[in-house]
Amino acid sequence: MAEDPIYTLAVHAGGDPDMYQGSIAVPVYQSAVFAFPDAEQGAAINEGTLPGYSYGRKGNPTQAALEKALSELEGGEAALALSSGMAAINVTLMTLLEPGDHIIAARCLYSTTDSLLHEILVPFGIQTARVDATDPDNLCSALTDKTRLLFIETPANPTLELIDIRAIVQFAHAHNLKVVIDNTFATPFNQRPLDCGADVVIHSASKYLGGHGDVIAGVVVSTDELITQMRWHTNTNLGGVIAPGTAWLVLRGIRTLALRMERHNANALAVAEYLEGHPKIKQVHYPGLPSHPQYELAQRQMNGYGGMLAFDVGGVDEGRRLVDHLKLCTLAVSLGNVETLIQHSASMTHAAIPRDRRLAQGISDGLIRMSVGIERAADIISDLEQGLAQL
Ligand SMILES: Cc1ncc(COP(=O)(O)O)c(C=O)c1O
Repeated sequence: MAEDPIYTLAVHAGGDPDMYQGSIAVPVYQSAVFAFPDAEQGAAINEGTLPGYSYGRKGNPTQAALEKALSELEGGEAALALSSGMAAINVTLMTLLEPGDHIIAARCLYSTTDSLLHEILVPFGIQTARVDATDPDNLCSALTDKTRLLFIETPANPTLELIDIRAIVQFAHAHNLKVVIDNTFATPFNQRPLDCGADVVIHSASKYLGGHGDVIAGVVVSTDELITQMRWHTNTNLGGVIAPGTAWLVLRGIRTLALRMERHNANALAVAEYLEGHPKIKQVHYPGLPSHPQYELAQRQMNGYGGMLAFDVGGVDEGRRLVDHLKLCTLAVSLGNVETLIQHSASMTHAAIPRDRRLAQGISDGLIRMSVGIERAADIISDLEQGLAQL
């Protein structure tokens, strides 16, 4: 089988030693402001009609190198790097929506995205309907004459539910809606939503793109037109700019993205298969298992199944007891690190969501979410083995 071009792209994208006096690593441009050649060019650069840099909130050469890399990796025309994944979601929604508009979102989303949609946006006149988008026919019943966009995660955090991107794009474009996909769990190594027709791809770069758990960052990838609007209008006013040193760390993380993801994918599959055979586990959610209800879709839509999985140990007590007994797997809420991270969703990431809404999203009381790292798979499994023996 031919190797994926992403192995080469991830190593070189956004780099160009000729632009940086031969420097192979893109330099960190630690400058808040840039001098203009003259008044006429300065005015044009400042309003974005001439390429160049003016003030750090609008861009920086280190940030530009990261953006170039990300747009190449996702197959988009342009990208905007931001201070966090939530900043990326906010800039996208603020650019595409106005008061009175309506969003259709998948039932299962990252908890802060959930509260952004239902708490922060509502007073600004933006309503969101949540649907089980695993069946694209459900989108129709939520459609109103005010609906402007579909927002989904696939695989979703934390249930690993998948959504058929091509099917929802077909529905959305027939109704003039934009499709925004949060691709944080999959990464462009495992899935490229723009190739499936999506309009906007979002990442929390704090996760696999950075890869080492040492940055908070975000990115939006889309068309030149939308990214220009986001950079020069929305984010210039919202201000969620990425710091140059952070952009550098994300770009460095991307250099090893393909290698890390290959290993995350293999380890997660091994852990999922182990858990599925364990008598104390009620259910394992991993798109690479034939028991996943959308295994066929995963094979069609994804190049690999990712490093994230979830499993059910029964109830809240069992969930908390298990995570307390693990030694190698670190109890922490983030994901995408080289280390294995594990957390109990009902008492941690999704604690703020009322129980009935959480259950409706498929997040059961005993659900454990695991971000399988790149350690030796046997070591991760033996830690789980000793932890499960305590239940
Ligand atoms: C799927 C998903 N999207 C967005 C975010 C938000 O990203 P950040 O924490 O970088 O703001 C997260 C954070 O966990 C996430 O898991």
